[in-house]
Amino acid sequence: MGSLLSSRHLLGIKYITEADINLIFETADEFKEVINRPIKKVPSLRDVTVANLFFENSTRTKISFELAEKRLSADVVNFSASGSSVKKGETLLDTVNNILSMKVDMVVMRHPAPGAPQFLANKIDANIINAGDGTHEHPTQALLDAFSIREQLGDLANKKICIFGDILHSRVALSNIFCLTKLGAKVRVCGPPTLIPKHIHELGVEVSYDVKDSLLWCDAANILRIQLERQDLKYFPSLREYSNFFGINDELLAAASSDTLIMHPGPINRGVEITTNVADSNQSIILDQVENGVAIRMAVLYLLASSK
Ligand code: CP
Repeated sequence: MGSLLSSRHLLGIKYITEADINLIFETADEFKEVINRPIKKVPSLRDVTVANLFFENSTRTKISFELAEKRLSADVVNFSASGSSVKKGETLLDTVNNILSMKVDMVVMRHPAPGAPQFLANKIDANIINAGDGTHEHPTQALLDAFSIREQLGDLANKKICIFGDILHSRVALSNIFCLTKLGAKVRVCGPPTLIPKHIHELGVEVSYDVKDSLLWCDAANILRIQLERQDLKYFPSLREYSNFFGINDELLAAASSDTLIMHPGPINRGVEITTNVADSNQSIILDQVENGVAIRMAVLYLLASSK
């Protein structure tokens, strides 16, 4: 684990290289071995203080980062916008500068505004890790998704991955597209025309509106949640209609190859984009994705801390 990343921040997969991604994977392989030992802790980030700043709700990402930091022996401080002075009108920059004046080295931030981590990176000295910025990017989710596929199928080159669902509002979709195409995978997006951005093919992906054909085509299906909280218009008539035409159900899974991997970044809307039987099937690696998230985040934290 000697090499360095090409950037001192992780703002998005767009801004890192294929070599960076492979270095993160190789480092995560080693940390995955560590977190499966009886003693899961290593001293790598002793004397490093990390602030987890969450301006938007999270279960998996927040807990996963906190566990990763604690497994690396970092000092950890957690901040949630709800219950903070943000509610009294304090700005993002004032909030972060006040926290940094308490000698924080790294900031993990989730924020509803696309570009918020980039804005901070231009203003402050700490390493910034984007834990999801609005509809823009969610880089550690894409890394853990690709790492989980690699674990099952080996090298990503020429593997066929289809991302299903609400592509328009999804930071997971964009980060996955950047990550998978950098690794040489063939990427398709599939969903209702209203939830697929018009120019997405310019990112090197195929577009399909045919769920059955796409599930038959792919080696791994990454199924996304309908993000009702980000939808300002009506993009489909009803959730029932979405589920009937675009949900991944038991019948579709039965018609697909028994080797096709079923993935979902969570949180799952059971019975909408995926049925319970599909989510809990033998082909599902949804909980492996969550497990791998800790190793991936340990790798990112470790490598960025080494860049100081
Ligand atoms: N996958 C994901 O980002 O989940 P959370 O919103 O719970 O962190």
